Amino acid sequence: MELRTKSGDPARQRTACVVVGVYERRRMSEAARAVDAASDGYLSHLLRRGDLDGEAGQTLLLPDCPGVRSDRVLLVGCGREREFSERTYRKAVSAAARALEQAGTGEATLFLPELPVRGRDVAWRVATAAELLETTLYRFDAFKSEPRPPRRPLRQATLAVPRRADLRRAQPALALGQATGRGANFTRDLGNTPANVCTPGYLGEQAEALAERFDSVQAEVLGPAQLEEQGLAALMAVARGAEAPPRLIVLHYRGGADDQAPVALVGKGITFDSGGISIKPSASMDEMKYDMSGAAAVFGAVHAAAEAQLPLNLVAVIPATENMPDGRATRPGDIIDSLDGQRIEVLNTDAEGRLVLADGLAYTRRLEPSEVVDVATLTGAAIVGLGHHRHAVMGNAPGLVRDLLQAGERAADRGWELPLDEEYDEQLRSPFADVANIGGQPAGTITAGCFLQRFAHGLRWAHLDIAGTAWKGGEHKGATGRPVPLLTHFLAARAGWTL
Ligand code: BES
Ligand code: MN
Ligand code: ZN
Repeated sequence: MELRTKSGDPARQRTACVVVGVYERRRMSEAARAVDAASDGYLSHLLRRGDLDGEAGQTLLLPDCPGVRSDRVLLVGCGREREFSERTYRKAVSAAARALEQAGTGEATLFLPELPVRGRDVAWRVATAAELLETTLYRFDAFKSEPRPPRRPLRQATLAVPRRADLRRAQPALALGQATGRGANFTRDLGNTPANVCTPGYLGEQAEALAERFDSVQAEVLGPAQLEEQGLAALMAVARGAEAPPRLIVLHYRGGADDQAPVALVGKGITFDSGGISIKPSASMDEMKYDMSGAAAVFGAVHAAAEAQLPLNLVAVIPATENMPDGRATRPGDIIDSLDGQRIEVLNTDAEGRLVLADGLAYTRRLEPSEVVDVATLTGAAIVGLGHHRHAVMGNAPGLVRDLLQAGERAADRGWELPLDEEYDEQLRSPFADVANIGGQPAGTITAGCFLQRFAHGLRWAHLDIAGTAWKGGEHKGATGRPVPLLTHFLAARAGWTL
């Protein structure tokens, strides 16, 4: 979608549709009042008659509003004015996007970013609206024989800000918001693509395609022979049961000074998790195609950084494999090597994510990053603990964890910190090897974090467990694109963008 910003009078916009907010109890926003005045009280008349009561997310399309230059006016309910929040703002923007697509206007000017949201400035409102305009109308029909296109897609939108002086701040916000939305959509495409197509090799090709598309991005893709030779034994142990060959994918985004250490992102890229020999029950096993959502989010973040041209260096490391049962597969009780040198007793082959991440972290250490964030659909226990709303966040660097949590707040893509106390780590003791790959039933998300922490020694490191947040089940089944918004806001802050 083509997005731009401007400031001006809603009644004087030559556009297919002007979008203005109306609060509950018929209270008009400033832009709505301007339209009302120009139309000689037409909006007040409709509101008094009860055509829209202003409930958050309601919409009313006025095809020919007298006295204004636009072809149409779209009224959007914003809830109670005194309770107008970040959440209602997001609801209103999404509702507007849906109504505009339905109406087939093709283009529109939205005055919603003028609405005051408590604690959020105009840059935030523009970034959020840009992101939502990109993500709300997302569909995944790559595998439908007859994809049904919308009647007339929304191709162009203009975001209005209150003052001309706001335009300078709105510009980078628009770029970041749009890049975030498009990055998240890319992540969703990868997540939704089935495992018979989205193999480790396919992810490698996606990396090469990204490098092809952006001059600022380079890709390296290692195959099984190189992984064996370089000693990524934990990744290879998970890959043993799979027919599809594993990959280690490294993406470099260079937007900062040559001598600046990169921020590293590490993404779990299990393209299908059957559990291996410790096989999973079959109910909902199809959802394990999403077990590469960490990798997909890292791809989305690199995509967004490149598109927004964030001034920093970034490196992404993605260990990718299937986890399958086979005569050659790793067995429970096997003791395996790892790139770091620690020997791991594999008590459960379904705790495979931490094995591939252990090698991913060890490989990342060689790239001398300033800090490392890994992203993984790591434990079912994260869903038990936090449901589908917040990511579980852990780390060994309080400042890094704080900044990730703060980025999540700003991006409405929230996390919650869990502790990594030594007592939990002791659950990972193995009588035979240096560490066991499971810590028993209690605190499964934390013991998985403790396992990773053992491989993150010497690094400023944090871990996002996105098992509950990366995809949705039920009626709106599909990848969510999270935590791309958290990551892009975090990276923007690291690049010195204040938003
Ligand atoms: N990919 C799963 C975690 C998962 C499960 C994500 C359900 C989303 C929904 C991971 O590889 C896994 O199987 N974890 C095990 C660990 C256990 C064996 C210690 C789990 O959570 O059951
Ligand atoms: Mn598993
Ligand atoms: Zn898994």
